[in-house]
Amino acid sequence: MRLLEGQTALVTGASSGIGAEVARAMATAGANVGVNYPFDKPQADRVVSDITNAGGKAIALQADVSREDQVTAMFEKLIATYGTIDILVSNAGIQKDSAFADMTLQQWNAVIGVNLTGGFLCAREAVKEFLRRGVVPERSKAAGKIIFTSSVHEVIPWAGHANYASSKGGMMMLMKTIAQELAPKKIRVNSIGPGAIKTPINESVWSNPEGVASMCKLIPYARIGETTDVALVAVWLASDQADYITGTTIFVDGGMLLYPGFRTGG
Ligand code: BGC
Repeated sequence: MRLLEGQTALVTGASSGIGAEVARAMATAGANVGVNYPFDKPQADRVVSDITNAGGKAIALQADVSREDQVTAMFEKLIATYGTIDILVSNAGIQKDSAFADMTLQQWNAVIGVNLTGGFLCAREAVKEFLRRGVVPERSKAAGKIIFTSSVHEVIPWAGHANYASSKGGMMMLMKTIAQELAPKKIRVNSIGPGAIKTPINESVWSNPEGVASMCKLIPYARIGETTDVALVAVWLASDQADYITGTTIFVDGGMLLYPGFRTGG
């Protein structure tokens, strides 16, 4: 039995990077998948074709997750297509890096808007549907599952990325607070905290040997992560095998959080 058979998942920011791989993996595990994308329809269509060519079910759904009207329209379309939602992977995320003194309000608002407000808006719509529908025992023990794609930077401060690190720190408390609030309703809320995963967001670093070497100094396991490293955890965390897990972040970071500088220092 595939782990997510018959369930419906929405993955935001699914046209590239971690989101695209999570979308493919959830479809392989038997879920119908809403492949959200902000702008690039051809890229989202490619992910949908990957899924349908492999015998799965998916639709592309355009929405800028920082916009309330677009988020509600996206949920309406997903629910009209597949009847309900069982799993939200709130994954859409951006970086707009800047030294702190030079950071513009636009850079701040853009990152908080997508990474944190987007998580709030999508989680709220998902929760409304989970509460309306309740548990369907044939599909899952839970009434719904939410997974935020957070980051090691929900705990590791990151110079030059005050907006991004703040969005992920905020996401951690959003995740924990709604996990606490909604556990009695059988809704599980967790995060995955990736470290350095090879995606477009950090391509400027891993695309050259010096960048790889400097990243690997921060990764005890000494390799940059692949999107599948995260996607397989997402499938499992959304499944009933993880039914007793709520309110936590699972880090997928090759040990980045182990303070590798202390291996020789301190
Ligand atoms: C960031 C990447 C970075 C990684 C490790 C992620 O959350 O988006 O750019 O490489 O954290 O620092």
